[in-house]
Amino acid sequence: MPVNLTHAEMFAPSHNLSMKPSISKIIVLAATVLSTLLAPQWTATGIAQTSQECFDCHADPDLVKDDPGGKEISMYVDEKSYEASVHSRLQCVLCHSDILDLPHSEEGLRTVRCSSCHLEEATQFLDSIHQRSLRRGDVFAPDCKDCHGKHAILSHKDPNSRTFRGNVLNVCGACHEGIREQYEKSYHGWLVAGGNKKAPTCYDCHYSHRIMLVEGKPYRIGVVNQCGHCHKKYYETFSDTFHGKMTALGEVIGAKCFDCHGSHNIFPVRDIRSTIHKQNLLNTCRKCHQDAPENLITYITHADIHSPRFPVLYYTNIAMVALLIGTFSFFGIHSILWLNRLTVDWASRYFFRKRK
Ligand code: HEC
Ligand code: HEC
Ligand code: HEC
Ligand code: HEC
Ligand code: HEC
Ligand code: HEC
Ligand code: HEC
Ligand code: HEC
Ligand code: HEC
Repeated sequence: MPVNLTHAEMFAPSHNLSMKPSISKIIVLAATVLSTLLAPQWTATGIAQTSQECFDCHADPDLVKDDPGGKEISMYVDEKSYEASVHSRLQCVLCHSDILDLPHSEEGLRTVRCSSCHLEEATQFLDSIHQRSLRRGDVFAPDCKDCHGKHAILSHKDPNSRTFRGNVLNVCGACHEGIREQYEKSYHGWLVAGGNKKAPTCYDCHYSHRIMLVEGKPYRIGVVNQCGHCHKKYYETFSDTFHGKMTALGEVIGAKCFDCHGSHNIFPVRDIRSTIHKQNLLNTCRKCHQDAPENLITYITHADIHSPRFPVLYYTNIAMVALLIGTFSFFGIHSILWLNRLTVDWASRYFFRKRK
């Protein structure tokens, strides 16, 4: 698994990644098989214990531990939600792998490393802004369990999962509160709240594990493709413009989708809150074209010559095509007649000479 992903890999749809069989999948599978097969032997040899033995104590809702500050931390693990989770078939000790005996040590247990089984996601996470913040000692940055939980983890396809499309806003919003609020009011956010599966949520534009600094060039150029995945026609017409060509060349200063439309505050053009509403459009352009004259906004970004929505372009195009076809037809017919004439000419001269 390459750590330095290329641009294309970085912006390939994330859900395709989980489709192909990978080392990660094999490890996950092996863990399940091992866990199921070896459970009785482990108990017999006394190397480690089954989940049931752990639950003997940890299914007690009153089991607590005192933290150094004297506060009580619950040591309770809910058996029901554990059994319903994706890890139900795992023995506890596969994650708490430093517990080798019971009663276990009360001090110095290692933190769980999800990466030992989920190599693929862990590798993607390695270079993310969240992981880099963790390495810097930022206690506010999330690790695996902050987004997924600990003992009740579900697949993102499960509507009860924290990472389910419709619930992700709560996961990210727990820390990015302001953005979540703004996003919920936006058109995309409104669609997501209504259960629209095609509308984007946080990870469609940022990913879940490869989250990048938004000021960086890879993000600013790459996110244009993300918008483009869902808005193909607009992406194509944008690509024909000067701004689009600059973006294709990897130039960040040209206008990209979010420079004109916003990012967490996107609305249809008819909505007065939209940055491209006719009342706001000039200001939007003037972010970069400071002294732009008012008529700059007559410029059409998504000009489509095949759509009657743009009458001038549409009919000019038809006229040009008609002219082209007309010209070629005229010369075509002309040439055929000319050829005909030449043939007749040549034939009559030939026969005339023969008779003489
Ligand atoms: C005899 C009861 C008992 C059994 C059996 C037991 N535990 Fe515990 N466990 C405790 C107690 C009590 C604590 C709180 C320790 C303390 O106060 O520091 C604890 C704490 C923990 C912690 C948190 C440690 C920390 O530093 O925060 C983990 C993880 C844990 N147990 C996992 C397990 C696993 C996995 C099993 C099964 C292999 C298991 N326990 C079996 C009683 C038990
Ligand atoms: C998928 C991995 C995974 C499995 C399987 C797992 N745990 Fe945990 N457990 C964690 C994580 C993550 C934490 C948070 C602390 C850390 O990062 O080490 C944790 C913490 C704990 C704690 C400390 C209290 C808390 O909630 O933070 C206890 C007690 C505990 N686990 C018991 C168990 C028991 C009992 C089982 C089996 C029924 C089990 N765990 C299975 C991942 C796991
Ligand atoms: C001992 C290996 C192991 C460890 C450690 C582990 N997992 Fe898992 N994980 C699995 C297995 C096995 C599955 C079930 C895969 C399946 O059903 O296809 C799974 C499934 C998942 C899924 C659902 C995947 C899907 O495609 O539905 C998520 C999310 C997940 N784990 C997150 C975590 C997190 C977060 C941690 C750390 C707290 C962790 N895992 C630790 C083995 C592990
Ligand atoms: C910032 C939040 C966040 C962090 C941190 C995070 N994840 Fe995820 N993870 C998600 C979301 C959201 C999804 C579901 C969408 C997707 O597949 O991209 C997901 C999907 C997954 C899946 C696929 C499961 C499925 O439901 O199909 C696995 C496995 C997984 N994460 C493991 C991990 C591991 C291991 C770590 C730590 C190295 C981690 N995640 C860190 C948010 C996070
Ligand atoms: C439609 C695509 C899209 C969606 C959906 C989206 N973002 Fe963004 N986000 C962007 C873009 C583009 C930027 C960069 C904007 C800029 O620099 O002007 C950005 C910037 C950010 C930033 C850094 C800048 C800041 O304002 O602090 C964070 C943090 C962020 N997004 C989090 C989120 C969260 C959390 C969600 C879900 C509630 C989310 N994003 C949903 C496209 C999106
Ligand atoms: C536990 C809190 C927490 C959670 C949960 C969380 N983040 Fe973050 N996020 C942070 C912190 C802390 C930073 C680093 C801020 C910094 O250093 O500028 C950050 C940085 C970011 C950035 C880069 C911001 C920039 O300035 O370029 C983006 C984008 C982002 N997060 C998106 C998300 C998304 C999307 C999710 C959900 C899948 C999410 N975050 C979940 C805490 C969190
Ligand atoms: C996961 C897919 C997805 C992504 C990614 C996405 N959008 Fe959308 N967007 C939609 C859907 C679905 C609609 C609703 C379309 C409709 O109502 O016909 C929409 C609506 C819009 C609208 C309102 C106009 C309309 O057609 O109704 C604008 C403007 C827009 N998106 C711009 C963007 C921009 C800019 C980005 C990137 C920063 C982006 N979108 C990313 C799916 C997406
Ligand atoms: C230079 C500014 C600018 C850039 C860059 C830009 N757009 Fe637009 N976009 C507009 C304007 C102005 C409109 C409204 C007029 C129209 O429909 O042509 C619009 C309309 C749209 C609409 C339809 C809105 C509606 O309510 O009907 C969508 C969707 C859209 N753009 C998506 C994108 C995507 C995706 C990108 C990037 C690939 C992008 N735009 C880049 C200015 C821009
Ligand atoms: C993020 C900054 C940014 C925004 C916002 C932006 N542009 Fe541009 N635009 C540029 C840059 C950079 C160039 C290339 C250098 C130049 O000619 O000034 C450019 C070039 C152009 C050109 C071609 C100029 C030429 O010399 O051929 C037109 C036309 C244009 N922009 C129109 C617009 C319109 C209309 C808007 C608002 C809907 C807009 N731009 C918004 C950055 C931006």
